[in-house]
Amino acid sequence: MDGPHHETGTGDRARDGARPTGHEAPGGGAVGTLPDDCRSTTTLRVNGVSHTLTVDNRRVLLDLLREDLDLVGAKKGCDHGQCGACTVLLDGRRVNSCLLPAVALDGREVTTVEGLPALAPPEDRADGADGGGPLHPLQRAFLDRDAFQCGYCTPGQLCSAVGAIGEAVAGHPSHVTDPAAPSGEPVPLTRAEIRERLSGNLCRCGAYPHIVEAVEDVLP
Ligand code: FES
Ligand code: FES
Repeated sequence: MDGPHHETGTGDRARDGARPTGHEAPGGGAVGTLPDDCRSTTTLRVNGVSHTLTVDNRRVLLDLLREDLDLVGAKKGCDHGQCGACTVLLDGRRVNSCLLPAVALDGREVTTVEGLPALAPPEDRADGADGGGPLHPLQRAFLDRDAFQCGYCTPGQLCSAVGAIGEAVAGHPSHVTDPAAPSGEPVPLTRAEIRERLSGNLCRCGAYPHIVEAVEDVLP
């Protein structure tokens, strides 16, 4: 693939169990050392940068992002696919990164909350509140609408909303879409549609009304 490429090491942090302990396991080998046949090399393109890592086959995308690539925007809430805090975009579609083994995603394109600004045309990007880097218009709308309190769920809400808007534009129906709506046509994102499509993202602070308003602000 074109563009930047990082050899990002082996992903040998604690959860890989790959650090030698100095103790011998029955049958030889250090206790805690993962056999090579339990590890695989995978290349992911994350926020426009290609990373090649050798990781435990059980390592999920969320842990790879946070622990190997230091992209800590995506959050671990439930670790069971139930809260949406870990939502990122995979080839443009939203996914729960806590459920996806990284080695199964070889060659795929991942966008985390850190990469959202680059998805917006330069003329639509907003300035950061503190003079920081540019923001995706939805990030700006979240700030303007007070669409968060603690902010823990916010990266997942943002990625999910960007994905949901894309799905509606592409004509994907939701549970509340009128069955008589023309197939394949963009689905208007009413409040009911926004609520339904973001219902997989939980916010313990209860910022939902302002999240809906922020999403409405950026609808095409
Ligand atoms: S941490 Fe992934 S859905 Fe909760
Ligand atoms: S802002 Fe606190 S969980 Fe959503």
